Amino acid sequence: MATYSYTLKILQGTSEYVLKELKEKYPNIQIVKVGNTEILLNSDIEDINNFRNLYSPTHISNSRGNTLNLSKRDWRVEYVSAGINPSLAYILCMIANLEKDNILLDPFCGSSVIPITAIKHFNIKRVICSDISGNAIDASKKNFIAANVDESKYKIFRNDITNSKISKRNVDRIVSNLPFGIRVGDHESNIKLYQALDVLARKVLRKKGVIVLLTQEKVLLREVFSKDIWSVKSILRVNEGGLFPEVFLIKPKELFKQK
Ligand SMILES: C[S@@+](CC[C@H](N)C(=O)[O-])C[C@H]1O[C@@H](n2cnc3c(N)ncnc32)[C@H](O)[C@@H]1O
Repeated sequence: MATYSYTLKILQGTSEYVLKELKEKYPNIQIVKVGNTEILLNSDIEDINNFRNLYSPTHISNSRGNTLNLSKRDWRVEYVSAGINPSLAYILCMIANLEKDNILLDPFCGSSVIPITAIKHFNIKRVICSDISGNAIDASKKNFIAANVDESKYKIFRNDITNSKISKRNVDRIVSNLPFGIRVGDHESNIKLYQALDVLARKVLRKKGVIVLLTQEKVLLREVFSKDIWSVKSILRVNEGGLFPEVFLIKPKELFKQK
């Protein structure tokens, strides 16, 4: 049987997740080399378009010089500044280990790249999207419509996390790309935002809930999410145009759960 060579471009540090997605979707693929930003593979699949349902790598190329941009999403018709790369949004959802009956909250939703990824590709029950910015809410609404998501599956509203209207304990996953305080906001305002996120998470997260956060404010995040209540693990360090934000996986500790 003929074999065809492909090169995947990946976000630095994400090979484990890309390999997981590859093996689940293409079990017969032969991995030739795993690098920091590239994975080389051989496959009996001739047409590069058959790889369009890979969402964690950013690009795939074949030996004939054809390239597909795998980060591109047709539904992403509106953007906000400091928006997340959709491939990284997909990886955050993998880390959150989403399950079909989950309700996901993104309280800094921007244009809702993370919630739409969770609904479209992980088929979860419902997403709650909020942001302080009216532009972000408008952008989110347009993206949800472009993504053809049924209105019963999402709720979008303006909400300042420091004065939050969200109070029901029905959230299974909080997945969010936080303000880093570099391109958006500053460190002083981040202290209040991160503290408000901790308060919100304690209020709305179910006992078996999981939080996945992308941030450059690593020290602040560890200071705010207290060791008495939360187990905080840095899972991944990504290179985002010269910044090195980390992805944190945060879970309530057993003692806290019993209260
Ligand atoms: C890094 S961006 C999130 C981008 C989003 N993940 C995307 O890809 O479109 C951070 C978001 O936090 C929002 N934000 C800043 N302060 C906030 C506050 N006090 N309450 C709620 N959202 C806030 C900003 O409006 C911005 O949309």
